[in-house]
Amino acid sequence: MKIQIINGPNLNLLGSREPDVYGNQTFEDFLAQLKLNFPAVSFLYFQSNIEGELVSAIQNASSAACDGIIINAAAYTHTSIAIADALAAVAIPAVEVHISNVFQRESFRHHSYVAPKCLGSLSGFGLYGYQLAVDALLQHCKSQ
Ligand code: DQA
Repeated sequence: MKIQIINGPNLNLLGSREPDVYGNQTFEDFLAQLKLNFPAVSFLYFQSNIEGELVSAIQNASSAACDGIIINAAAYTHTSIAIADALAAVAIPAVEVHISNVFQRESFRHHSYVAPKCLGSLSGFGLYGYQLAVDALLQHCKSQ
């Protein structure tokens, strides 16, 4: 099982960015733990602050024959038709993750272009949401 994790803009700053909202842990530290928790899963990780690079990462997940995508498109969640189109184009099962509970925040965060292209969305569970997303993808693949 190969899973591509894709993080959008400003998520490279996890650990120092608004720790009251996003916590104190860097994504790299979290990812090391995630790999230990799922030894049978091969994880690919990509982060970019650039919309087109996120689109390319989604397309590349298809070329790399990934079984699933976990995507936190960050602020592009609320604006990017290009990212939504890329997810629709590759037809790889995807799960949307948000570290914060976007529905407890400003109303512009309540709409997601990404969500309709995903199996489901997780919001508000901190980095643990990524672990829940892995479980969801494993469950989905088993049922196929
Ligand atoms: C976020 C929520 C987005 O609204 C915000 O722009 C982010 C992070 C989250 O993980 O909670 O950058 O996707």
